[in-house]
Amino acid sequence: MKRRKFFGQMGMAISGFFGIGSLHGHPHSRNTLPKRLSDHPISIGTWNCPDAILTSGQLMEGGTPSLEAVVKGVAVEEANENNTTVGIGASPDRSGRVTLDACVMNSNGDCGAVMAVENIVHVARLAQHVMEDTPHVNLVGLGAEEFAYSKGFPKTQLLSMAAEKRWKAWLQKSEFTPKINVENHDTIGMLCLDAQGKLSGSCTTSGLAYKMKGRVGDSPIIGSGLFVDNQVGAATATGLGEAVIKTVGSFLIVELMRNGWSPQKACEEAIGRILSQQTGKPDFQVGFIAINIAGERGAFSIHKGFSFTHYESGKAINVPSSSAY
Ligand code: GLY
Repeated sequence: MKRRKFFGQMGMAISGFFGIGSLHGHPHSRNTLPKRLSDHPISIGTWNCPDAILTSGQLMEGGTPSLEAVVKGVAVEEANENNTTVGIGASPDRSGRVTLDACVMNSNGDCGAVMAVENIVHVARLAQHVMEDTPHVNLVGLGAEEFAYSKGFPKTQLLSMAAEKRWKAWLQKSEFTPKINVENHDTIGMLCLDAQGKLSGSCTTSGLAYKMKGRVGDSPIIGSGLFVDNQVGAATATGLGEAVIKTVGSFLIVELMRNGWSPQKACEEAIGRILSQQTGKPDFQVGFIAINIAGERGAFSIHKGFSFTHYESGKAINVPSSSAY
């Protein structure tokens, strides 16, 4: 897609947000939100994560509500030591510490998040506890870790031998290049719609490899890495978190869908919004996925290489995303 086209769409979107005009008149908008066509559960996740998607899809087929399905789904990748960007085995920050970020959001609009948590594998579940068992939305660092122990989470060494070896090799030059793509991807974002029409989402990550100590990206930030509105749809992000935060990408996508945009066009617009802040072709990746309450889906990224996985008839299908470049 040409950047010109993005700018056109962006102008329409801005006028809608500030009440200057209505997005309902935009060529990408439909006057009514679509109705759900079937009650088959839907699960969609960033990147190639078949086991996580199968887990959540099959759980929902068996009647498990979307929130439990999404947390159990992303837990598959959190426990996968070979996934170098989520949970155990993830790359550390530049001081050698693995710190994890995660959030969850349910169909009531309740949400919880944890940030910069050490020694805990299942941080999406921990974020669910923050949502359900505290009066707060965000817990960070040691406070989140201590809360995890109070809930019975085990203390676990997150830095694997392989990750330590990669980090020590990185230290030789200490060059920070926040490049994210299929070979070095980040973040599992997952959206689930159950047979009852309840939407939930989760986003879980170790963030950028060799990030500054204390750095938190978009993934646990509600509205940026994830947003769910059961009247409209849901969106989640992967890629360079700073760019997603600056445009509040997932919230933007849901608001565009509220104004009648399809999930696909809304994802394209969110990427266009990021590109409009750049001069020239950016050397970082961002990808979004979205679904609406009718079960339509969308995905778009800055660069080729992003893909998503969705659940269909008992199978997890990985699909390359379309992209701006
Ligand atoms: N998208 C994950 C991060 O930037 O931390």
